[in-house]
Amino acid sequence: MTLRCDQSPVWAELQAHFDQDGAAGGRGFDIRTAFQADANRFQTLSFEAPEVFADLSKNRIDAPTLALLLKLAQDCGLEARRDALLRGDPVNHTEGRAVLHTALRAPAGSAAPFNAEVQASLDAMLAFAESVRRGERGAMTDVVHIGIGGSDLGPAMVVQALEAFRAPGLKLHFVSNVDGHDLAPVLRGLDAQHTLFVIASKTFTTQETLANAQAAKAWFLAQGGTDIARHFVATSSNTAAAAAFGIDTAFGFWDWVGGRYSLWSVIGLPIAIAVGAEQFRALLAGAHAMDQHFANTPLAQNLPVLLGLIDIWYRNFHGFSSRSVAPYHQGLRRLPAYLQQLEMESNGKGVDLDGNALTIGTSPVVWGEAGTNGQHAYFQMLHQGTDVIPVEFIAVKRPNHGAVGELAEKLADQHRKLLANCLAQSQALMQGKTATEALIEKAPTASATLDREVLARHRSFPGNRPSTTLLLEALTPRSLGALIALYEHRVFVTGALWGINSFDQWGVELGKALCNQLLPRLASGDTAGLDGSTAGLLSRLLSA
Ligand code: F6P
Repeated sequence: MTLRCDQSPVWAELQAHFDQDGAAGGRGFDIRTAFQADANRFQTLSFEAPEVFADLSKNRIDAPTLALLLKLAQDCGLEARRDALLRGDPVNHTEGRAVLHTALRAPAGSAAPFNAEVQASLDAMLAFAESVRRGERGAMTDVVHIGIGGSDLGPAMVVQALEAFRAPGLKLHFVSNVDGHDLAPVLRGLDAQHTLFVIASKTFTTQETLANAQAAKAWFLAQGGTDIARHFVATSSNTAAAAAFGIDTAFGFWDWVGGRYSLWSVIGLPIAIAVGAEQFRALLAGAHAMDQHFANTPLAQNLPVLLGLIDIWYRNFHGFSSRSVAPYHQGLRRLPAYLQQLEMESNGKGVDLDGNALTIGTSPVVWGEAGTNGQHAYFQMLHQGTDVIPVEFIAVKRPNHGAVGELAEKLADQHRKLLANCLAQSQALMQGKTATEALIEKAPTASATLDREVLARHRSFPGNRPSTTLLLEALTPRSLGALIALYEHRVFVTGALWGINSFDQWGVELGKALCNQLLPRLASGDTAGLDGSTAGLLSRLLSA
């Protein structure tokens, strides 16, 4: 028996709070008025967690709202659920598995579950990564990492984010899509004798990864490559399947590491190759620091808990069905894609733990793009569109351009521009602009013939649009580890309160099964028994 948040008596209290007349707390809440009423709002609603400072003050929350949300968390037994997760209880109950990515970043000698096995696996993986970096496995110039989903997004995002920490000379490529347009251009520029392939798949059954691995192997042999054992390595919890594929060197891991939580395991091999063992350990240490914060900080100051509670407030009371993530650091441009899997594969569920259909919304759509690029694409809609979409800004105080001389000065100036843009966007979303303000402004590009009042309505902004700003001192392995762990725990918090299993992904199975049934039909052209649309499309695709 689980207590879902909507079954708690506090849910009705929150609904009443949301529905009350006037500005207090609920649907009429105005962030601008709240700032006018409380000179300390920023101080009260900003929080420190390891490596991450969070400004929550531009959200539609106040002390009574937060108090009720925290009461909800208590009432649903969030702390007990968190402790069960960290202890290694089989919280992924549809697969009968524990969920212990936190154990992967616990330091050596800690009491975390499986510590001895984890340390042995980590040491072996890091030793291998260092041997590649030192050229002991041949003079490798390129590493091609083949994997998809959790076996791609995490490593690819982190390697890109930690560009400043990468060894010069060794190039890393990530291939995920079964579409040959992903693999072909990567292979085109490579020399087989100097290329290492890492085949990453937890199950080692994933169609896309196996197809790309087979193609890479065929290419390697066609190029005159002979030493498969030296040039192919696997990271998988199914090392037997990797061996059957012909890969001798395989780093294994455990079924209690979920795919989308696996970058901390041997799936992180490309990260370790890129930045080295010491920095990989720093990534783990940053995540561990956030784990400690999540495990030990009272709920009212616990950042993943607070973010998760605001997510519930927006999704289930305000009815906001989407959240945009805007990292103001080019290195984090793949973070939104990574978070899409983390959040939407985890919490995109329609039944509770007992299999009952949910009548409340679960995972929002998570999407975004690096700032400032997003500003010139979809921010128009964030400012003036008919939907309210909470935005999450991520800013980094100190850049690491690796530039010297005049270029360094220019880029330092660009960094100030970047930060000014970041602050301006959250300010504009909150502040808005009335039609009266727009009326008295000069707008050089505006029509001279259109009625001024009409024009002012086009040029006004509703404001009161919520945002969160997360600040990092610098983008380092440690701070990145903490940031990712923050998101992982936040996803856990919302999933636990919704009473769902955040750790399975049955929703991806049906499409995989139908694909396997359709595949032979793409060769034979047989459309018998198919629905009209699929039959029509298939025939058209196969027509001369
Ligand atoms: O998309 C479904 C999924 O099972 C993800 O959860 C997983 O990260 C991905 O496929 C890749 O799976 P594997 O690592 O087993 O190849």
